[in-house]
Amino acid sequence: MTLSEEILTLKKECGAVILAHNYCSDEVQDVADFVGDSLQLSIKARDVAAPVIVFCGVRFMAETAKILSPGSTVLHPVPDAGCPMAEMATAEAVREFRAAHPDHILVAYVNSTAETKAEVDICVTSANAERIVASLPADRPVLFLPDRNLGANVAKNLGRAIDLWPGYCPIHDRITVESVQAAKAAHPNALFLCHPECRPEVVALADHALSTGGMLRFIADAPETEFIIGTESGILHRLSLDAAGKKLYPLAPLPVCHDMKKISLEDVLQALRTRTPVIELPADVIEKARRPIERMLAVHD
Ligand code: 13P
Ligand code: SF4
Repeated sequence: MTLSEEILTLKKECGAVILAHNYCSDEVQDVADFVGDSLQLSIKARDVAAPVIVFCGVRFMAETAKILSPGSTVLHPVPDAGCPMAEMATAEAVREFRAAHPDHILVAYVNSTAETKAEVDICVTSANAERIVASLPADRPVLFLPDRNLGANVAKNLGRAIDLWPGYCPIHDRITVESVQAAKAAHPNALFLCHPECRPEVVALADHALSTGGMLRFIADAPETEFIIGTESGILHRLSLDAAGKKLYPLAPLPVCHDMKKISLEDVLQALRTRTPVIELPADVIEKARRPIERMLAVHD
């Protein structure tokens, strides 16, 4: 039996569902029951009602699955697969901000720890950030954390002043105007799509700034045939399946999130065999972190 076959057999035996993010390695995406962006995976985790969820992605995503499915055993095969940006806003620092700025509405990008989510008013993902922030009362100041780039892009599009936490995604923040200009010069007929975690000056060059799921849908549906892809490399695998026949041009240097590649097929198999490592969160953190996620889903649904 191949590794993938062993995984599929064991998965059936224990009633597990495998969820994987669009940035995971190709072979992990291929054994998953569902591959998606952060928002799609959160909704799937909430609705799936499986006794065991194997979450392939970074830790904050697996935590979100646990928060929304507290009755499920959520396995995160490689515990140190984390999002560096999520670590840039600690719960303690957010509490200090709240104490010093009691009037602010605190908005957290889902790329944040469960403990930090427990301190905020509402969450957003890259797929709904603009819609959620637009729904907030206009007369209250807003703090957006931890991503200064996504926050600045939302502020610009809504024409609203937003206070920004100084966090960023090391992978998307490193994408430069020069690399985009070089790709555009080489492929003058291509549309440029980027993730809104890119710097505002990079987003200014984009035809559209979209979540990973939004980018997949857009390319599959678009009449255009050539696209420059301004996000992490893992999405190219999905695109090669969902948008076969379209010409896709990655940026140079290729943006790679090594944390997203940490989970291998061996790790998935081992997690299913041992039913570990399990995401464990204190009950009060689950309770408090669920509220801002549910507020987001209520605006979004
Ligand atoms: P998406 O929600 O667009 O999948 O993005 C998650 C992420 O980590 C982007 O770097
Ligand atoms: Fe975090 Fe950036 Fe990796 Fe996404 S690509 S998981 S934001 S480090």
